[in-house]
Amino acid sequence: MSKLVISDLPDSVFNGKRVFVRVDFNVPIRDGKISEDYRIRRTIPTIDYLVERKAKVILGSHLGRPKGIAIPELSLKPIAMRLSELLGKSVKFNGKVIGPEVKAALDALEPGEVMLLENLRFHKEETDNDAEFSKELASYADIYVNDAFGTSHRKHASTYGMASMFDLRVAGFLVSRELKFLTRLRENPDRPFLVIVGGSKIKDKIHALKSLIEKADKVLLGGGAAYTFLKAKGVNIGSSIVEDEFVGWAKEALDKYGDKIFLPVDHVVAGNLEGRKNCMVVDGEIPDDLKGYDIGPKTAAKYNHLIKGTGSIFWSGPMGVFEIGDFSAGTTQLARSVALATWRGATTVVGGGETVAAIREAEVLDLEITHISTGGGALLEFLGGDELPGISILNDREEKISLAAS
Ligand code: 3PG
Repeated sequence: MSKLVISDLPDSVFNGKRVFVRVDFNVPIRDGKISEDYRIRRTIPTIDYLVERKAKVILGSHLGRPKGIAIPELSLKPIAMRLSELLGKSVKFNGKVIGPEVKAALDALEPGEVMLLENLRFHKEETDNDAEFSKELASYADIYVNDAFGTSHRKHASTYGMASMFDLRVAGFLVSRELKFLTRLRENPDRPFLVIVGGSKIKDKIHALKSLIEKADKVLLGGGAAYTFLKAKGVNIGSSIVEDEFVGWAKEALDKYGDKIFLPVDHVVAGNLEGRKNCMVVDGEIPDDLKGYDIGPKTAAKYNHLIKGTGSIFWSGPMGVFEIGDFSAGTTQLARSVALATWRGATTVVGGGETVAAIREAEVLDLEITHISTGGGALLEFLGGDELPGISILNDREEKISLAAS
């Protein structure tokens, strides 16, 4: 069911109205500096649209998992500053989520102005989806907008509880774009459909992986995920990372879908990350005392070949420890192969924080990937076939007629 988007509503709906926009500004911050602002930048079209229509824009987000405690390092203040730069206008921030200061700030908010609340998770009522807290947040605004795809799998006060209290609860442009590309991938991907899964753990991805293996025409595995499959196949993986609890499942998957699952045929190995000066490439089996940290050049060439001629690609998870130069080649080459596939006409979708970081590392531009998802867990749950509470609570498009008529 497609969801109502802000651009489906007449401009006059927003004029002078308070609009609460749930955004996902859960971005990596190191030493007080934002190291990746992709999630912030992707919300600009929605905020800008509302500002132009003279709405009073109230933004709410979480950062990290402070569990109801106001941890200074998890304040949204640096984000308010970055957002002001990106928007080219000052964003009001008073360091509170609820209370008289917020009420006063809301009263003072003029049409076309933007304010950002403090980290919603400084109140544990947020993750508890507490009814009173939801009611308080809902009292701030006339219209609710979800532009936080990355948090839409959470049934929290700001993603679900408060949203249910609005007649108008619509998607922003970020959410709308995510739904457009991910629904197509989930329901009707252009074929051949190729899935690439890496990263250190199968555990986080098992739900999505099960569904994607069924739907895909080809599945290329790398990173830690591949070693569990190689072990299931009886290949010696040395002391590489492995999730023993999934070896049985991997064996079943190989028995059923073995002809479309591709595994690394060579590896960049070392004794450990500290002793990586002795790293080398091995074919096939990995000696007992060594660990695989990246796919080898033969695998990279093979994967590059398989990527050619695909209709759509979904990629999540690096092929190795790409943050370390010696083990980055596999992931970098893959990122470039995916970018070339986009230029050849494939629909390419990439997701997960690490994969986005890998794309940056490979100097692949955003426009060389059809869609870079802002979702981590939400993306995997969606592709696994789940309904996301933060999405299902939004108005369906069909409701537009009754809303317009009311
Ligand atoms: C994410 O980074 O995946 C989202 O912001 C959700 O964060 P959470 O897993 O802490 O709910």
